[in-house]
Amino acid sequence: MKSAELRQAFLDYFASQGHTKVPSSSLVPHNDPTLLFTNAGMNQFKDVFLGRESRDYTRATSSQRCVRAGGKHNDLENVGYTARHHTFFEMLGNFSFGDYFKREAIKFAWEFLTGTLGLPEERLWVTVHISDDEAADIWLKEMGVSAERFSRLDEDNFWQMGDTGPCGPCSEIFYDHGADVPGGPPGSENDDLDRYIEIWNLVFMQYDRQEDGELKPLPKPSVDTGMGLERIAAVLQGVHSNYEIDMFQALLQAAAKATGCNDLEEKSLRVIADHIRSSSFLICDGVIPSNEGRGYVLRRIIRRALRHGHKLGQDKPFFSTLVTALVEQMGEAYPELAREQARIEKALLAEEEQFGRTLAAGMKVLEAAIAELQGKTLSGEVLFNLYDTHGFPPDLTADVARERDLEVDMAGFEKAMEAQRERARGAGSFANDYSDRLNIEAETGFSGYEKLADDDEIVGLYRDGEAVDSLAAGEEGMVVLASTPFYAESGGQVGDTGFLVKGDSRFAVADTKKRQAAHVHLGSMESGSLNVGDKVSAYVDVERRKAIMRNHSATHLMHAALRDVLGEHVQQKGSLVAEDYLRFDFSHGEAVSDAQREQIETIVNRQILANTAVSTELMDIDAARDAGAMALFGEKYDDQVRVLTMGSDGFSKELCGGTHVSRTGDIGLFRITLEASAAAGVRRIEAVTGENALAAMRKQEQALSDIAATVKSTPDNAAERVRNQAQKVRELEKEIERLKQKLASGAGSDLTDSVQDINGVKVLATQVDGADGKTLRVTMDKLKDKLGSAVILLAAVEGDKVALVAGVTKDLTDRFKAGDLLKHVAEQVDGRGGGRPDMAQGGGNNPAALPAALESVKDWVAG
Ligand code: ALA
Repeated sequence: MKSAELRQAFLDYFASQGHTKVPSSSLVPHNDPTLLFTNAGMNQFKDVFLGRESRDYTRATSSQRCVRAGGKHNDLENVGYTARHHTFFEMLGNFSFGDYFKREAIKFAWEFLTGTLGLPEERLWVTVHISDDEAADIWLKEMGVSAERFSRLDEDNFWQMGDTGPCGPCSEIFYDHGADVPGGPPGSENDDLDRYIEIWNLVFMQYDRQEDGELKPLPKPSVDTGMGLERIAAVLQGVHSNYEIDMFQALLQAAAKATGCNDLEEKSLRVIADHIRSSSFLICDGVIPSNEGRGYVLRRIIRRALRHGHKLGQDKPFFSTLVTALVEQMGEAYPELAREQARIEKALLAEEEQFGRTLAAGMKVLEAAIAELQGKTLSGEVLFNLYDTHGFPPDLTADVARERDLEVDMAGFEKAMEAQRERARGAGSFANDYSDRLNIEAETGFSGYEKLADDDEIVGLYRDGEAVDSLAAGEEGMVVLASTPFYAESGGQVGDTGFLVKGDSRFAVADTKKRQAAHVHLGSMESGSLNVGDKVSAYVDVERRKAIMRNHSATHLMHAALRDVLGEHVQQKGSLVAEDYLRFDFSHGEAVSDAQREQIETIVNRQILANTAVSTELMDIDAARDAGAMALFGEKYDDQVRVLTMGSDGFSKELCGGTHVSRTGDIGLFRITLEASAAAGVRRIEAVTGENALAAMRKQEQALSDIAATVKSTPDNAAERVRNQAQKVRELEKEIERLKQKLASGAGSDLTDSVQDINGVKVLATQVDGADGKTLRVTMDKLKDKLGSAVILLAAVEGDKVALVAGVTKDLTDRFKAGDLLKHVAEQVDGRGGGRPDMAQGGGNNPAALPAALESVKDWVAG
């Protein structure tokens, strides 16, 4: 049975048992920042298990794409070394949400394996959790499983998706690949070898693990099962290793061809075949290689594959060429993969080109370190150097080390990394900003969502990084208030500026930053003095703050518009919201076209025109996610979050702590001013709003008027006029070229008139008007032909430069050298040059001396 047929048979079987077929979700979990990648079929149903979400079905079945790399369930290091581990695999599953429980789950599994698939019972082995008598009874008494192929285990039979979340005891079914494969049954000493391979895990979901470890019972006992498609395909196709199944054979062959390695058993080929699946699907789902979070795991996978390609002798890009074979294998089951093929290839190729430049050099460094190694452990420094200079993720170095039976010092690597971060922090702090080093205990209230001016008490003053009682005129320092309307820089939005005033005393706030729970006002005392305990009036620079708010709100509208126009893979990679513009980096594999850019601008401006109220709501984080609010992965959110809704019909919904306009119309106008690449797979857009948008347009208009005036036209006709003129220039250039040639050949005939005879040698030394170096050389050849035997020097003047060419016909080169003649003349016009005995060229900087220099040629020949 082919893998594709097997996938279908599974889904059909469970559909016939009343299960709804649900498509695979993305590898990037949409509703769960605790999860790096989708790693099990149940992920998309997490909230259903927890009772937070309900669906119109209580039984579901799916074939879910999963990645197990870099998270709680991490198999990256094992890929290539075992017959059954993958970074990417497909998990077949059936689920019950408070519907059936252990008995039916076990029955379905047994019936499908032994009935539908016809597997012999004596090849199967079953385990249950040590405490689970109920499941044990069902297996042994009701299903009639032999006690000889049954065991009770502890940790191995308790499954949980992450450190927190749904979990429960489980029952696993193993397949015995036969006595000729080494390994013992589950629970025995050698159960990690390849003879008994787990094919199906039935999880009896009963708890929600809390952060403190407590097991909170789920509202309803449920079922989550998972069977690796690749493993069960291996069983049915009568092969022992997953890599021998149909789907992998095609990939291995493609990898063999692309790397020039013919041994399909080669471990490196397996790594490559596995990694092309995870990398391609991750990119398909919007992840892009980078140095943090998901992007970094992806980068590690790609680089590991490239290193194995390099090991097979392939140092040109090859990895991206495998996407075609992958799409052939999996494009039908996952149409999104086929749709995104070009984007995936591009992103992989970019990564190959980038890493390709340092891979070979890094390998040399690593080989040298291994050659010099005393003992069996590569030091943290070696790991760090390879990472820092050559982009080798430490697990890549570990992969090489494992091949050579060596260990790596990961702790040492972490230490070196921490030291580097420390250095970077030191280099980044600037003279008057002591706020980084301060430990401020005060907790500042923030009134800046509603007010831009407020009266507040000073609770802390700092100078030169020390707490002080007062600040005097002329001093720089920092002020902490009990409560403030000043927004402190965060979430991409810059800090507020303004003034703190008490009577004649005035502190100018140049920036506001957050330190611990305090808002720190950085700036200088312009006049008077301030003491701790003083009440001040805090005035935010209103115009500036309004401009910032326009940009921040526009950023949200644009983010939503980008996802509308470019696709759901668009994810925020960074943003800056300043007074004069906004900058937004996002994942997208190619330039945004002019048409798309226009569309985005139009969508945002329509939202502005609709002038709907912007609303904010505090809710708990789970409710916010349920409401579909966009959050950033890896960002720590409090339990209570602020959800910002903007635009018609909730067009944009994001978690955000920033300050915003009250109605979209306040933004005024939105214009994109730049679209460019920010990094591989990341685009950057800059845009302006409000008066800045107007100013940007005026500037463009002014530039256009200037152009129109220069070409003596009107703005409407200027483009046409410029096009015509450019065309005319091209024609004129051609004409000039033609004339120069003509001049050269035409002049050649006249020039011979000034040939002189010096002691029986024909000598010609003359200036050619309107020629350049190239024309002189052409002319020289013609003159030589014409005169047959001669010593010639040609010169041309262009501005304050002199071009010189000297020529001597072959018959005379034993007496006169063109190089010598050229030097003789060039020296007189403050220049130099050289060449062969028959032809030399050069130049000089003194046209005034040229006539005399030309005169001197006669004497030079006369000797
Ligand atoms: N969620 C279970 C697993 O991944 C089925 O093994």
